[in-house]
Amino acid sequence: MDVHESLLELIGNTPLVRLRTPGAGRTAPVYAKLEYLSAGGSVKDRPGLRMIEEAERSGALRPGGTVVEATSGNTGAGLAMVAAAKGYRTVVVLPDKSSAEKIATLRAYGAEVVVRPGGLPLEDPEHIVNLARRIAEQTPGGWFAQQYDNPANPDAHYRTTGPEIWRQTEGRVTHLVSCVGTGGTISGTGRFLKEASDGAVRVIGADPASSVYSGGDGRPYFVEAAGRFRHPETIDDSWPVSFHREVVDELLPIADRDALLTIRRLAREEGLLVGGSSGTAVTAALRVAAELGPEQLVVVMLPDSGRQYLSKYFNDDWMLRNGFLDGDAAHPLVGDAVPAELRERPLPYLHHRSTVGQALDALRARAAAGADPVLPAGPAPVAPGRQPTALELLGAASLEQLAAALAQGKAAPTDPIADHLTAPLPRFGTGERADAALAELTAAGCDTAVVVHDGHGVGLVGAAELKALLG
Ligand SMILES: Cc1ncc(COP(=O)(O)O)c(C=O)c1O
Repeated sequence: MDVHESLLELIGNTPLVRLRTPGAGRTAPVYAKLEYLSAGGSVKDRPGLRMIEEAERSGALRPGGTVVEATSGNTGAGLAMVAAAKGYRTVVVLPDKSSAEKIATLRAYGAEVVVRPGGLPLEDPEHIVNLARRIAEQTPGGWFAQQYDNPANPDAHYRTTGPEIWRQTEGRVTHLVSCVGTGGTISGTGRFLKEASDGAVRVIGADPASSVYSGGDGRPYFVEAAGRFRHPETIDDSWPVSFHREVVDELLPIADRDALLTIRRLAREEGLLVGGSSGTAVTAALRVAAELGPEQLVVVMLPDSGRQYLSKYFNDDWMLRNGFLDGDAAHPLVGDAVPAELRERPLPYLHHRSTVGQALDALRARAAAGADPVLPAGPAPVAPGRQPTALELLGAASLEQLAAALAQGKAAPTDPIADHLTAPLPRFGTGERADAALAELTAAGCDTAVVVHDGHGVGLVGAAELKALLG
């Protein structure tokens, strides 16, 4: 019989499929490793299984125990699937930017899900890693998987992903391209391929453009689960022990927009429905392959399926709102109010650590210049003058509301503005139609919105400007 005794036998052993896009045989062939075909639907089944097996072996996890992890989703699903198959309880702590589909998947496996705000400094006790550690300590039989620092994570890839690629390509692989989150995939797979090829295989990390791994300032980005975010108030940003930097020859920064447009093309042109980090990796792989000849062979890791992101990357409204689509130029667009040459200017906004007094000065200056006296607010930037991403604009302040709070004694000029913010300003992507944006702005009772291009706030637009655009 061709049968399996356990689902756990169906983890890994994923196929390599050639991407057609590079075309014409001029460049090196690029083979995609389809990790969404693993039993739990992602590259994280492998470390999920190995980390649990190692914990069982060491006695850290015993029958009736509870698996606890902090994760943006896939590791939780891998662990929850293996835990369900082996009879353990699972608790997963994840950041609120995780897609609804990922959270629902965890609950479907019977995991208890704790959602906490993402984007906190590492030292904050409410940071998901600190919270997961506490939950594990306080739960009888609790075991914290700790994928960032657990050697079983890269080891899973050293033992399975690397050997599979070597065998599948008959040792002809010359380049490995992978995203870096915990670093487990690239470190374990890369190390195996380097050893097997006597150091000939080049290992390339594909990184979201602002991730610190490739030299970015760590501001948030929209591709989930890859790269490394750094909160401006994080003091000690030690990289994960699971990331063996010495295995990686090069790290290529890839803009969110390029990554997301790439996966939309892969779905439509090749029938490959994959997640955002696959877009980051494929964009990098195509760039690498373009410099190579047909005798070389690139393998790119596609960590998960696009089904987890249908409400985001494959949803035109979401893509438009975040400035990732150009929109229909037959109509006046929001972006026409902030022409491309003006998008490099810093967005006027308030640092959330500034005081009410400083905010009032900035708002009065806007009023004196004839602008609507409201401003978006968010964390102080790591690099002065850089554009905050739309993900950082956590609130807003208006002259009217602050003046009223002062008059009523509810605010003092020395208070941090963070304590007195209102809801974030509405935001519209550059590709959205100006008429629809104006209607939405009016319905929200606001006069000003943030204009977003490529995920970044690039300007403020008032109702009057939108009306002027519409003639
Ligand atoms: C979708 C996705 N892409 C990329 C990664 C990064 O993989 P690694 O943590 O092995 O570096 C992950 C890890 O969770 C992931 O879930």
